[in-house]
Amino acid sequence: MQVQSKVVIIDFGSQYTQLIARRIREAGVYSEIHPCVIGLDELKALEPSALVLSGGPASVGLSDSPLIDPDIFDLNLPVLGICYGMQLIAHIFGGSVQPSVNREYGRSILEFAQDSPLWDTLQDKDKLTVWMSHGDTVLAPPVDFEILARTANVEIAAMGNQEKKVYAVQFHPEVAHTEEGFRILHNFLFKIAGLKPDWSMSSFIESAISSMREKIGNEHVVCGLSGGIDSTVVAVLLHRAIGKRLHCILVDNGVLRHGEGQEVAETLNKHFDLNLKYVQAQERFLSRLEGVEDPEIKRKIIGHTFIEVFDQEAGSIPGVKWLAQGTLYPDVIESVSFKGPSAVIKSHHNVGGLPEKMNLKLVEPLRELFKDEVRKVAVELGIPDIFVWRHPFPGPGLAIRIIGEITTERLEILRKADRIVQNELHASDWYRKVWQGFAVLLPLKTVGVMGDERTYENVIALRIVESVDAMTADWSRIPSEILARISNRIINEVQGVNRVVFDISSKPPSTIEWE
Ligand code: XMP
Repeated sequence: MQVQSKVVIIDFGSQYTQLIARRIREAGVYSEIHPCVIGLDELKALEPSALVLSGGPASVGLSDSPLIDPDIFDLNLPVLGICYGMQLIAHIFGGSVQPSVNREYGRSILEFAQDSPLWDTLQDKDKLTVWMSHGDTVLAPPVDFEILARTANVEIAAMGNQEKKVYAVQFHPEVAHTEEGFRILHNFLFKIAGLKPDWSMSSFIESAISSMREKIGNEHVVCGLSGGIDSTVVAVLLHRAIGKRLHCILVDNGVLRHGEGQEVAETLNKHFDLNLKYVQAQERFLSRLEGVEDPEIKRKIIGHTFIEVFDQEAGSIPGVKWLAQGTLYPDVIESVSFKGPSAVIKSHHNVGGLPEKMNLKLVEPLRELFKDEVRKVAVELGIPDIFVWRHPFPGPGLAIRIIGEITTERLEILRKADRIVQNELHASDWYRKVWQGFAVLLPLKTVGVMGDERTYENVIALRIVESVDAMTADWSRIPSEILARISNRIINEVQGVNRVVFDISSKPPSTIEWE
């Protein structure tokens, strides 16, 4: 990455470590997360401009608590310790850290003990609401460290050594509950460490293109397109880098939404001069799914069939040496524990197993990006809004939204119902406000009455959820008039449906998809 400023975050296992990285990047500074077992030489090789020591669940001073090579402080880099990171700094520099009488969790009022560059641009110079989450406390600062802030419970809530540029805070400036937390992070990055905000999506695009050109040389690359944002950005970036030596394959697996395969192919062809092959393999997938009810078997069949079709298509392109994948940064870090790298790197949905089978090298241009950064890259690349804001759609598609057996008749019903949901979400401007909104076809029939006739027909469930990362989700409090319109339209327009229900479960304990 061609950036001058790079913050390395050393991870001690905090649930907020990714958030620290995102906040620093939002400030325009490139940041990377590395496990705390990183060695001194490995760290030096990364050429960091500053370090952040993250929080973590452990207590310093125990025999198994995660430590760090104390020589990192001889690199003379600016350091910010957060929570466990602060306790570790205190421990290494000879301060005293003890378990607190009461665990402190939640909001606290921070009072400043003295002026510091860390507080430089804060608007409220008296006190700040901050977010705490700790069991241990620094009771005495190391020699040469000044106490910078306290709370009612904690005498040393922040400390610093201005000469060494080593600072530490007990609270979490990265979480939204800490008022002006971003200003504290900015003060560290720009006032203390003197970094340059040179991480932007246009600089990413430039450097990704040149590094892909260098890596791929004159060879050819194959890329699976789904119409989702990740694979679209991968394809457009690679297309910019190597032009027609990129070969895109869009597989219609028969369980896409209404007209989706055709529409994605046409839109991409219209906007970008991609080398795109639209493979209509609906029959092959649907015949194998016949009579299958178990969701995991559906997933396996779709996964294997995809690999088979993709392999066949890619094999017919002469000279392909690379497979492009849309792996994102959270996939990379989730597969590495803070205690060290684990062997398994999560493979991208649907293409897992492909590189080995086809003996291809992997190119993953989005490996360094968070999802919101991928969206920004998409906008910079001129990718149309319908791709940028498209809701996530699972690889096994409608197959896991038809509960039980998949038949062409049931697919037809779900496609019609789902199309109405999508239309109404767009028409009411709710599409962008929710994480996902879709219809599910249930494997049961219920009684209804239409005109003078008794009916006995299918039930559609609506699943509309809000989420930031799909790890947790809550059902959307979408206005009841929109739900009423969706329900009316489905029952009136989709033959075979006489009842619509709305799913009001959160994740956990439910999941977003029904299968
Ligand atoms: P759940 O249902 O686990 O879904 O709460 C979380 C997110 O993952 C998507 N999802 C999948 N995506 N293949 C995929 O590519 C799958 O098998 C799959 N299952 C769930 C789901 O749509 C949601 O965004």
